[in-house]
Amino acid sequence: MTCSLPQHSSSSTHNNNNTTTTNPPSSILIVGSGLFGLTTAYSLTRRHEFTNTSITVIDRSDPSSQSTFPSPDAASIDTSRIVRADYADHAYAALCDEAQLQWRQQDKPTDLGAQGRYYETGLIVVGDDTSPAPVADPPVESDVSESSHKKLTGMDYARKSWENVSSLASRNPALAERIRELPNADAIREVLGTGGSSGAWGYINNNSGWTDAGASMAWLYEQVRQTGRVSFVAGTVESLEHDDTSVTGAKLADGRVLTADLVMVAAGAWTGSLVDLEGQAVATGQVLGYLDITKEEQEILGKMPVILNLSSGLFIIPPTNRVLKVARHAYGYTNPQTLAIPPLPVSPTANSNRVVSIPRTSLNDPNLCIPAEGEADLRAALREMVPLPGLVDRPFTKTRLCWYSDTRTADFLIDYHPHWKNLFVATGDSGHAFKFLPVIGDKIVDCILRECPPEFKEKWAWKEGEGAKALFTEDGSRGGKPGLVLDEELLKAAQVLPAV
Ligand SMILES: *[C@@H]1O[C@H](CO)[C@@H](O)[C@H](O)[C@H]1NC(C)=O
Ligand SMILES: *[C@@H]1O[C@H](CO)[C@@H](O)[C@H](O)[C@H]1NC(C)=O
Ligand SMILES: *[C@@H]1O[C@H](CO)[C@@H](O)[C@H](O)[C@H]1NC(C)=O
Ligand SMILES: *[C@@H]1O[C@H](CO)[C@@H](O)[C@H](O)[C@H]1NC(C)=O
Repeated sequence: MTCSLPQHSSSSTHNNNNTTTTNPPSSILIVGSGLFGLTTAYSLTRRHEFTNTSITVIDRSDPSSQSTFPSPDAASIDTSRIVRADYADHAYAALCDEAQLQWRQQDKPTDLGAQGRYYETGLIVVGDDTSPAPVADPPVESDVSESSHKKLTGMDYARKSWENVSSLASRNPALAERIRELPNADAIREVLGTGGSSGAWGYINNNSGWTDAGASMAWLYEQVRQTGRVSFVAGTVESLEHDDTSVTGAKLADGRVLTADLVMVAAGAWTGSLVDLEGQAVATGQVLGYLDITKEEQEILGKMPVILNLSSGLFIIPPTNRVLKVARHAYGYTNPQTLAIPPLPVSPTANSNRVVSIPRTSLNDPNLCIPAEGEADLRAALREMVPLPGLVDRPFTKTRLCWYSDTRTADFLIDYHPHWKNLFVATGDSGHAFKFLPVIGDKIVDCILRECPPEFKEKWAWKEGEGAKALFTEDGSRGGKPGLVLDEELLKAAQVLPAV
């Protein structure tokens, strides 16, 4: 439920010249039809405050076209996303608990969880005390000390997450009995059912599962379309339009200009190329691989729960249609580039920072491979988690980089811009937002109305003055090595040449 705060409650965090009115704007332009953008559009149509507001969503992809929506390189797509209340942080655990009430609706074909959009297969969360959290490379022009002292290890995360899901389930014995501790590798092997195991301690939560992300986005688009309230524009936003103090719209690559009273940028990992995020969120590429499997392998692996190793970030989702996906939720790779068109500066008087990590995907680089370091890790996950003969060495059918908008704490960034009027940002998914599809739009609209849920108000706020420091996500859920740069890692693979 939404909670009402006094209308002026946000003035303490934004003691600047941001006087954006809380009166609903007559027009809203949402840049990006990914998870944050499309859920917000839907929620706006359901709030009486916005009855008279015209709502426009602009995206590179045309949502009415099945083949291009969601955009094939966006983060909201692909076969599968984990749906878990298994968080070390209680606020997100509770938010997912709320979302799952809707994911579990499957009676009617039009229900969100129906038609193969949600599978409650269970989730095994594991960690290992013996592997300390990765240590950052020596900081260069950066200061990681602040974030490193309160760093959780994967094991800390797993244990806290277990406490939280157990406590959430304790009000309902049917849910509570579906969570069980797995005290050692043998116990983990037994419930995994693939012959493999991973980690030294963990638990299984049969109240968690996964969703078909592409199908769920198509479902959501259909809900939005049926309202008849939202105009969709297909085009690439090149820059934001502004006057001396306010953002006024967006300029498209084809020269068109769209104007609105309120502009919300929800461009996922691309957000930093439109708005200087002051180092609060950075685009990071995460590796994933797909493998074709046989009918017999599908039989076996189709019954496994999701498994997530929080010490390495590696996870495997049960296969469907004989395609197995393995991925790594890690620090990821940055891709710093000098932008031809600079993003909106931090304030009307600031200079733009042109060097920004931006996604590189198969759309702008058809031959893009994943770094050998990442591929080796995916391979290790197969070997450990699903060691079927013949499968662990089979070449990947396809590999991909999935681009997160990562923040330091893995909290989302959902707030008014502190120095530009009429600009709102919703980004910083940090790779864990998709599960909130049924509820996040309402929370974002609460924040637009300056009634942000109290438990998220600080977490999601724009935090100033982070710009100079390198950003690593330190919520304890990330594996891999921090500080990897995509081009450098790709070069390392190229250097593995025959010796002279
Ligand atoms: C919308 O416009 C109508 C007609 O002008 C007006 O009566 C109504 O109060 C407006 N609703 C809101 C929520 O502003
Ligand atoms: C959930 O985890 C947090 C740690 O983030 C802990 O402080 C809190 O007590 C846990 N909540 C419950 C209800 O167990
Ligand atoms: C899982 O994490 C453990 C530490 O808990 C590590 O030793 C192991 O190699 C990891 N396995 C995979 C496949 O990530
Ligand atoms: C979880 O579900 C699996 C498959 O249905 C079952 O075998 C297992 O006993 C369940 N575990 C718990 C703790 O409920």
